[in-house]
Amino acid sequence: MPSLIHGSRSFPAWSGRTLVLGVTGAGDATVVAGADLPKATAKHLASVVPVLEVSTKVGDTTTLAAVPGVSADKVVLVGLGEGEGGSDPLRRAAGAAVRAAGKGSVALSLPHTDEAGLTAIAEGAFSGAYAFTAHKSAAPTEDREITVFSELGRKDSPKDVIARAETVARNVAWARDLVNTAPNLLYPQSFTEQVQQVAKASSGKLTVEVLDDEALVAGGFGGIVGVGQGSSRPPRIVTLSYAPRSKKVPHVALVGKGITFDTGGVCIKPSAGMTTMKSDMAGAAAVAATVVAAAELGLPIAVTGYLCLAENMPGGNAQRPGDVVTMRNGTTVEIIDTDAEGRMVLADGMALAAESGPDQIVDVATLTGACVVALGPKIFGVMGNDDALRTAITVASERADEASWPLPLPADLRSGLDSAVADIAHKGDRWGGALTAGLFLQEFAKDSSGEQIPWAHLDIAGPSFNEGSPWGHVPKGGTGVAVGTLLAHLTSLA
Ligand code: BES
Ligand code: MN
Ligand code: ZN
Repeated sequence: MPSLIHGSRSFPAWSGRTLVLGVTGAGDATVVAGADLPKATAKHLASVVPVLEVSTKVGDTTTLAAVPGVSADKVVLVGLGEGEGGSDPLRRAAGAAVRAAGKGSVALSLPHTDEAGLTAIAEGAFSGAYAFTAHKSAAPTEDREITVFSELGRKDSPKDVIARAETVARNVAWARDLVNTAPNLLYPQSFTEQVQQVAKASSGKLTVEVLDDEALVAGGFGGIVGVGQGSSRPPRIVTLSYAPRSKKVPHVALVGKGITFDTGGVCIKPSAGMTTMKSDMAGAAAVAATVVAAAELGLPIAVTGYLCLAENMPGGNAQRPGDVVTMRNGTTVEIIDTDAEGRMVLADGMALAAESGPDQIVDVATLTGACVVALGPKIFGVMGNDDALRTAITVASERADEASWPLPLPADLRSGLDSAVADIAHKGDRWGGALTAGLFLQEFAKDSSGEQIPWAHLDIAGPSFNEGSPWGHVPKGGTGVAVGTLLAHLTSLA
C-alpha cells in the first residue's frame, strides 16, 4: 500500500521522482500549482507548453524532464479542464497523474481552496496508485510514498485532512482487493475470516458475529440457505458492528450482497455473462470497508454491516425454479429464476437488520443487469421507500464524486411479483428489472409490526467493476464504489 504524506516544505524543493502540476484553460494552457511557481519554472513552462500542445482535458498528462527551478526528476502536467472547478476534476486528475508517474515517489501540488478539494486530490492520488498484485508470482510492487502539498491554512488542518483521506482510500483499496481476489480463493468462509482478522486488529473497535450454514438453517434464513445450497462452500451472514462511546447516536444498518461467484445456479448464465461474476460480492465488500473506515475515523454514528455471503452454484442440491422458501421474517417466496439470487440473500439480511431496530437500512448490491442497461457502466441506481433518505444518498454520492441517479419504485409493478403458490414471487417480467428487484426488497424493509423502516437500495452492478481501461482515479477491475458515498452519508448524519 502507498502512504500519503502532507508536504510541509515548498514543492519546488521536493527532490523525489515525479512532481505533478496542473494545466488549465481553454486553448491557451496555463500551468497551475498549489502555490506560486518559481520564476524560472514559470518561464520555462510557459515557453514549452504551447510547443507541446499540452492538453488541459481532465486527466490527460504530459511528462517533462529537466524542468528548471524544481528538484524533482520529472514533472507531470495533468489536465484540470477549463477551470470549472469542483472536486471531481481534481480527483480524476490526481489519480491519472499518479498512474502516469509510474514507479517511485510522487508529489502533487494542485490548486484547491477548501477541504473538499484537498480530500479529492489526496484520495484520488492514493486511488491512482492502486494495483492488485496478490496473484502475481513476481515480487510485489514497492510501497510508494505520495506527498500532497497544500496551501490551506492551519485552521483547515491539512495534515488531518490528508490522514483522513488515507484512511478512506486504504479501505476503498481493501474493497477492491476483495472484489479482485480470484473466486476459488474468496468464498463465504474465507471472506468471513478476512473480516474476523480485520476486526481482531481493530483493538476492540469492531465486533463480528458469524451465522454459519447450520445457524442460518436453524434461524430460518431460507433465502440465503436456498441460494447457497448448490455450492460445496456453505453460506454465511457476517455481522460487523461499530458503535461510538455515546449511545445517543443514530444507528444505520448496511446490508451487502456477497455472492462470491454467480453462475446463475441451474438457470445458468451463458459463459460470456459469467466472466466478471467474481465481482458479485462488491456490495458486501463496500459495506465491510465502510464499517471499518467508520470505526477508524471514529464517526459519531453506530453502524452495523450485514454481509450476506453465498456462492450461487448449480450443484446437485441446488435450488430449482418452482421451489418455495420461507424467509427469516416468515414470508414465503416462490423461486422463478435461480439467477435472481441477490435479492434472496439481501432480503434475509434486511430482515435480520430490521430486528435490531435501526433508524435506517441501506443495502448495496450488484443486483441487476437492467440497472446497467438503464444507467450505463459508471452510474449506480438509488431506490428506496423514503424520498429524504434516497435524496441524501444521491447528495452523498455527489460529495464523494461517485455518480448515481435516482430510480422509482412504481407501485404498479408490484403486482408482477404476485405468486399463485406463495406470498410473493422474487421476479417479475423483463421490463423494469432494476425496479422490480427493488420492489421485492422493499417488502423486507419492515419492522415486526409491519411498519416501513427508512430504506435505500444502491444497485451498483455497473460501476462496481471496470471491465475497460483505467480512467481518472478508477482502476481496471474492482473499483470500491459506494464506500465513499456511504461514508459521506454517515458523516452527514453525524
Ligand atoms: N449478479 C447479477 C447482476 C449483474 C449483472 C451484476 C451484470 C453485474 C453485471 C444478478 O444476480 C443477476 O443475475 N441478475 C439477473 C436478474 C434476472 C434473472 C431477474 C439479471 O440482471 O439478468
Ligand atoms: Mn444472478
Ligand atoms: Zn448476482
